[in-house]
Amino acid sequence: MNFIVKPLSKFNRTITAPPDKSITQRAVLFGALGDKTFKIHNALLGEDCYSSLKCAEALGASIDVDENSNTITLMGREIASTHLDVGNSGTAMRLLAGALAGQVGNQFTLDGDDSIRSRPMRRVIEPLTMMGADLGSDVNYRAPLTINGTTLKGIHYNSPIASAQVKSAILLAGLNASGRTVVTERIKSRDHTERLLQYYGVNVYVHENSVGVMPARIIPRDTRIVGDISSAAFPLVLAAALKDSRVIIKDVGVNLTRSGIMAVLTKCGANYRISNHRGEFEPEADIELEYTPLKPFTIRRKLIPLLIDEIPILAVLACFIEGESSVTGAEELKFKESNRIDTVVNNLKKMGADIEGTPDGMIIRGTGYLKGGATIDPIGDHRIAMSMAIAGALSAEGCTILNAECAAVSYPDFYNIFKEMP
Ligand code: S3P
Repeated sequence: MNFIVKPLSKFNRTITAPPDKSITQRAVLFGALGDKTFKIHNALLGEDCYSSLKCAEALGASIDVDENSNTITLMGREIASTHLDVGNSGTAMRLLAGALAGQVGNQFTLDGDDSIRSRPMRRVIEPLTMMGADLGSDVNYRAPLTINGTTLKGIHYNSPIASAQVKSAILLAGLNASGRTVVTERIKSRDHTERLLQYYGVNVYVHENSVGVMPARIIPRDTRIVGDISSAAFPLVLAAALKDSRVIIKDVGVNLTRSGIMAVLTKCGANYRISNHRGEFEPEADIELEYTPLKPFTIRRKLIPLLIDEIPILAVLACFIEGESSVTGAEELKFKESNRIDTVVNNLKKMGADIEGTPDGMIIRGTGYLKGGATIDPIGDHRIAMSMAIAGALSAEGCTILNAECAAVSYPDFYNIFKEMP
């Protein structure tokens, strides 16, 4: 499907944030490791989550999905040897590698689409091998992965990269390893695994940037998923960059390890209010934002893990702020669903932006204006498709997004944002 984005003159909407992709996938995958029937309410029924559901089913879980109420009923059973297809999902690939490494006596293969096959897996293979895992990959440490479930021993791993997927893989392996498993990060990555494991009865020791577990069983229980701030970022930026606009986004997850975008908006001088704070194992709130002229921003390494998936849409925002904005310390962008330094820079250039890629980020010289008029191929990267669609809506001439359906990986209703208001 190609999607034609027309320029918008203003944007005034109340939107409910779609459910969080990272947390939905964790609930599904952790559920498959438990042996209880439970429900996941307000689950994201996007493509990555369906990939996790298919993996859970292949591992032995029985699953019922009610698409009307966004509810998943899941019952984990004894794990069985199988082939797993994670589709486009890096979270499923890396978390499953850790979770299955200690399933003694079982064999697994883990594979996915072309994007997954090009993404680095050494980051999980190395620490899991240190724990005793029997893991195979191609010569470049890429998928497909083969796993011979075996006995594992706990390690203390100083992670060279701030990655929740790496941290989670090691912690999940640690649940089946002897002794204590600890992961220390230089900058703390998102803590959804820690929170959900605790909610599912696992003792998780957290001290500053270190997280530890002992061998334990996951005991899932009914779970309600909060909204995804990475998806909320698109309508937020649309309203922040477009004169006379205002947006209310309900039910947004505001976990501090995910909400770096709000810190950037604060530094830019955005006019927003977070209210109605609530939440059980993850904090949730409503965000109301009204357009006001903004100042340029600088995003440095320390903030990157807190907004890594929002950098493409923040680059779009920077085009609409007069002056130079920059991102540094973000080399991890090269290893996402696409090389997001290249895909952001090249596509925004096509739209008329003055933007330059650097080895670890980008520099954007914003003018408050984008010509647009380009045809964009997001090469299957959902966040590039959505970021460029927002850029098109903010531009003078709009744009066409080719193969726009990839947005369904994380935000199945995304294009409704552009529907005429009732
Ligand atoms: C995710 C963690 C991040 C993020 C990805 C989802 C997760 O990746 O970019 O979209 O669910 O844990 P890294 O942990 O590799 O940085």
